[in-house]
Amino acid sequence: MDNPFKNLFSGISFFNNHASNGVLGIDIGSSSIKIVEIKKKEGKAMLSTYGMIGLGPYAELDIGKVTNLPVEKTIEALNETLKQSGATTSAGALAIPVQSSLIFTIELPPNVKESEMPSIITTEARKYIPVPINEVSLDWSLLPKKETSFLEANSEGTSPKEAEKTEVLVVAIQNDAISKYRSIVDECKLDVPFFEIEIFSSIRSNFEHELSLVLLMDFGASRTKLSIVEFGTVKSFHIVGRGAADITDSISKSFGISFGDAEKMKKEYGLYGNPNEKSLADIIKIHTDYIFSETNNVLLGFEKKYNRTISKVILTGGGCLLKGLKEVAENNFKAEVEVGHPFSKVGAPAFLDKVLEATGPEFSVALGLALRKLQ
Ligand SMILES: Nc1ncnc2c1ncn2[C@@H]1O[C@H](COP(=O)(O)OP(=O)(O)OP(=O)(O)O)[C@@H](O)[C@H]1O
Ligand SMILES: [Mg+2]
Repeated sequence: MDNPFKNLFSGISFFNNHASNGVLGIDIGSSSIKIVEIKKKEGKAMLSTYGMIGLGPYAELDIGKVTNLPVEKTIEALNETLKQSGATTSAGALAIPVQSSLIFTIELPPNVKESEMPSIITTEARKYIPVPINEVSLDWSLLPKKETSFLEANSEGTSPKEAEKTEVLVVAIQNDAISKYRSIVDECKLDVPFFEIEIFSSIRSNFEHELSLVLLMDFGASRTKLSIVEFGTVKSFHIVGRGAADITDSISKSFGISFGDAEKMKKEYGLYGNPNEKSLADIIKIHTDYIFSETNNVLLGFEKKYNRTISKVILTGGGCLLKGLKEVAENNFKAEVEVGHPFSKVGAPAFLDKVLEATGPEFSVALGLALRKLQ
């Protein structure tokens, strides 16, 4: 039977004999599934294939629409993505979306013994988790302490006592979500030894050796994820409940056009605006203004708490490909702004350089997972 989704698919396979030793990264986003397959060749990670399928049609919606598919439909879509991309390996890793998890930091009193940490952290975490603690799986990691010499602590107005506090990044994943994703990968006959919350995958693929405080903004279809990162570790995480598909919805409603046509218009003109539809840029701006204003609030809160400001912003997620967004971000943050280029982490045929740079932000989660699995 002819594949009804072939037009939604952007998959390319580069090597005929590829990836017997390869690994897959799988990102089931709210609007599309993205997969990346890489393998090691002479010690270097090489891209062997990648692909994406819009999930809308699996819920009888337009391509690009946000969905929340039942397990059977997700299995169908993932199998189709694997098939169309020509991925040959079954070993992989899968991302857990932030909406199935909670990510927060807690402070421990000074001098907590390591043996006491599990019980103290679990007790503290209960305050943040709105469901019974036995319905989630918890993990945590101690945040590296700032170099807290007396001098620095005093010069920044932080008391030495505060500087002694141990901060812990806690992540909680709903057990239901873990079972759901487990059954999806099992049904797709994939060998997936670990799941990872999507932002950690994205940090891996977007960061080089940044040591200063960096804000990573993932502009997804349904939400924008903000991670404040230092030394590769998340210091603070927030979700802005608005994403790139909300922009398309507004364009579609304002101009009385289909979601598909609105999506095309958004991608073609973005914030630069359409000479024939003067209000387009304003419609888009309502959403980007909201996202940046929420982000500024988050940064302000961070600054108040830690007395520190970010020095760089990395944009990722498909929504960051919006024309004019980088310029707006530069104006807003008054800091260096960079669009992430995750595929620069893997080798690929030179003729694909431009394509991979342009599409990279959509694949940052999938690639970050594959990189972890390959290590
Ligand atoms: N060139 C472009 N210009 C503007 N928007 C774009 C462009 N390319 C992709 N997008 C938008 O990016 C969004 C999809 O991004 P992404 O694939 O990161 O989302 P997702 O992972 O499915 O969603 P989420 O992360 O919220 O679960 C869509 O709304 C799409 O319209
Ligand atoms: Mg996403």
